Amino acid sequence: MAQQDDVFKNIVSHAKEYGFVFQSSEIYDGLGAVYDYGPNGAELKNNIKAYWWKAMVQMHENIVGIDSAIFMHPKTWKASGHVDAFNDPLIDNKDSKKRYRADVLVEEHIEKINQKIQKDIDKAAKRFGDAFDEAQFRATNPNVTRRQEEISQIEARMKAAMDNEDWADFKALIEDLAIACPVSGSKNWTDVRQFNLMFNTQLGNIAGEEGKLYLRPETAQGIFVNFLNVLNTTRQKVPFGIAQIGKAFRNEIVARQFIFRMREFEQMEMQFFVRPGEQTKWYDYWKEERLKWHKALGLGKENYRFHDHLKPAHYADNALDIEFNFPFGFKELEGVHSRTDFDLTQHQELSGKKLQYFDPELQESYVPFVIETSIGLDRMFLATLSACYKNEDLGDGNSRVVLALPPVLAPVKVAIFPLTKKDGLPEKAREIFNQLRLDLPCQYEEKDNIGKRYRRQDAIGTPYCITVDHQTLEDNTVTIRERDSMEQERISIEEVRKVALERCSWAKVLH
Ligand code: GAP
Repeated sequence: MAQQDDVFKNIVSHAKEYGFVFQSSEIYDGLGAVYDYGPNGAELKNNIKAYWWKAMVQMHENIVGIDSAIFMHPKTWKASGHVDAFNDPLIDNKDSKKRYRADVLVEEHIEKINQKIQKDIDKAAKRFGDAFDEAQFRATNPNVTRRQEEISQIEARMKAAMDNEDWADFKALIEDLAIACPVSGSKNWTDVRQFNLMFNTQLGNIAGEEGKLYLRPETAQGIFVNFLNVLNTTRQKVPFGIAQIGKAFRNEIVARQFIFRMREFEQMEMQFFVRPGEQTKWYDYWKEERLKWHKALGLGKENYRFHDHLKPAHYADNALDIEFNFPFGFKELEGVHSRTDFDLTQHQELSGKKLQYFDPELQESYVPFVIETSIGLDRMFLATLSACYKNEDLGDGNSRVVLALPPVLAPVKVAIFPLTKKDGLPEKAREIFNQLRLDLPCQYEEKDNIGKRYRRQDAIGTPYCITVDHQTLEDNTVTIRERDSMEQERISIEEVRKVALERCSWAKVLH
């Protein structure tokens, strides 16, 4: 675990050192859980967006994209259920004045019990060697079964308290478990209360509650309220989808783990409208499609798994997460939700506008059901960075840090170097640079020796480096070096553009 913590720390500092991610307002000591993207980060983020947009919109004739506003009519959030149900249970420690999510405190307590179980298992595994049967040990060892039973009881009590909104019992649970504040060490807690995660602000020209606006906590509602507009302005027929990428805001109580949980973040969401009754078929379809999208990037097939929700959100009848193996363990990267007709029906009721589709084949009108795919762009950024960050031992006492980014995502695709700053080499290298940069993001570099220049490009994930040397002036050839293998080949200058375009092509990941 300590080793994984170190890897994560290295990734965070690498992200800063090489201009990927900075803390927001850093000169004022930062703002909690808000981050800015630097020059390389902005490029990587744009490339992830492009990969999603191309795969979802460009490659699907039955999906169209929109870009709706962050501010929406306040009734939107009443209809969607966010005003009443988008809450986390909150508790404050009176001594440290620190605020916690009550459910997270209990989950962390459960995790400690799990760690004790794991310790017993590890000990037994060591003792019994190959003959060890973990399932049998879990089922029969009295210490383990007692602890498992303890976990089940805590989980059941927490679930009942959440379902019944019995906040007094939630507090009693925290007290019974003797959970102490990690900062003050005291057990001096306030009552548990519900905390709405939406940020709000005020319209300038309307006073009081009437003028209260929310910063959207999901981009999905911008799609639902535009359902008719899109239907009437395109030739789409059910089943069809509407996609968008945009900012979302959540006043998270527990905001940590770098860009994993932020207060301002970006989502890439798609709502797929289907015939009522066909939602299970499409839910299964999109679950597999989205996993394929992830795996096509080559970040390691073993780094993904599905996690079915036992208790889907208020709008869904079925939901799962695609989890990714982050440096701090498997965690949610993307959600696939079967949202039923909940949202359109709610908007229909509150707006008084019919949000229905006339199905020419069935000759009837209905409110379509919806399958949603929803991925956090920043979380995808972190997943990419974590999977691609490598500290490689090159033997002979040397090492290098390399970001093994898929070429389509790399901020810089090709770096062009003259071997030296004289003999007409810079002029030749600039010629190639000028020819390439129309089609691909390139960098021209002449400072430092070639080895240092390679290392700098490795650290930001540049897949190809082209070097112009004295032989270039004789036979019009250059070397092209591949980042991961570090192998070099000589190709003619005429081929450079074709080779670079082909190797960095979207066709490598999109089919
Ligand atoms: N429209 C459905 C929806 O918003 P969600 O599971 O709450 O569902 C979807 O969020 C995705 O948005 C998550 O899988 C995650 O990738 C991302 N996400 C949610 N909250 C986030 C936060 N505070 N910071 C960064 N990403 C977040």
